Amino acid sequence: MILSTLISCVLLSSSTLDLREYSSTPNSFKKVEKHILCQKPKVVILTKAKLSEEDIARFEALVNRNDMKGTKLVDTDGEQIGSLITDWHTYNLKKEAAGDIPPVKTTAFAIAQFEKGPREVIDFGASTGNEVIQLIKMFPDIHVVAIDGDEEATTILKKRIPPGKEHQVTVYTGPFIQYKGNQADLLIASFVFPYRSKEDFPTMWNHAVSLIKDGGIVAGQFFGEPANPKKAMTYHDEQSIKALLKDDFEILFFQEDHAIKVYGTPDEEGKVTPMWGELYHVVARKKRGK
Ligand SMILES: C[S@@+](CC[C@H](N)C(=O)[O-])C[C@H]1O[C@@H](n2cnc3c(N)ncnc32)[C@H](O)[C@@H]1O
Repeated sequence: MILSTLISCVLLSSSTLDLREYSSTPNSFKKVEKHILCQKPKVVILTKAKLSEEDIARFEALVNRNDMKGTKLVDTDGEQIGSLITDWHTYNLKKEAAGDIPPVKTTAFAIAQFEKGPREVIDFGASTGNEVIQLIKMFPDIHVVAIDGDEEATTILKKRIPPGKEHQVTVYTGPFIQYKGNQADLLIASFVFPYRSKEDFPTMWNHAVSLIKDGGIVAGQFFGEPANPKKAMTYHDEQSIKALLKDDFEILFFQEDHAIKVYGTPDEEGKVTPMWGELYHVVARKKRGK
């Protein structure tokens, strides 16, 4: 049985953990979980057919942790296991194919607050780098730290950096919480903050705040609760966003989109399914001395 072959992660440090023989039995997950947390592999191979639904959900929650972002779960045939929250493959390819698109409105609003443009930017959840590439094209003196746990996304990002501009971008592939760099004038997190569980959100948020200089700016989105909320995500409403920002930030831009209209899919009768909750666009300035 595979569990008996799991040895200390100090001895076994490989980027792929082959658990194809693992099958769900009462209490077996705990042992495997401990091993995965210790080894932090990039890929875990599982045989989906051997897993209970509960175990699949547990594996997904495990690789979605603040400190595990980037680990992929794949079935023995190479197919991903998990949802968009843990695997961004389709999203990455769509973004790559879309080519150059202007920065989202929160980023556009934020950069307009700097007389000569921001100098040091952190893009949390940079994905394939659309905003990174736009920023370095717009500002020749800017330096952007592009952070994403998804290795496929950052590989695409690196390829998109125009020749001669490499010094303007530092790419960090890994969980955001583990990034320990300098503070930035601007931290953008376009469509990223909600992708944390309720338990992990405060640590992630405090880390984001700590990476912004006094007087610096945060720009990004929060999601309202949808019809089918996911445990892996954190949802906000206007009140809770304002409460989150109250102590450390002054709000510069706050806009609510009725996301049902933006993302809802009409059925045959033209009725719109409320897939998503509200969408909040937020830009805020960090108070001095915080
Ligand atoms: C919805 S995408 C947004 C990408 C991009 N900012 C955009 O606007 O298209 C979310 C991205 O955040 C990354 N991400 C989410 N949580 C993360 C974490 N804790 N650490 C590192 N990357 C994370 C995911 O890998 C994914 O590429």
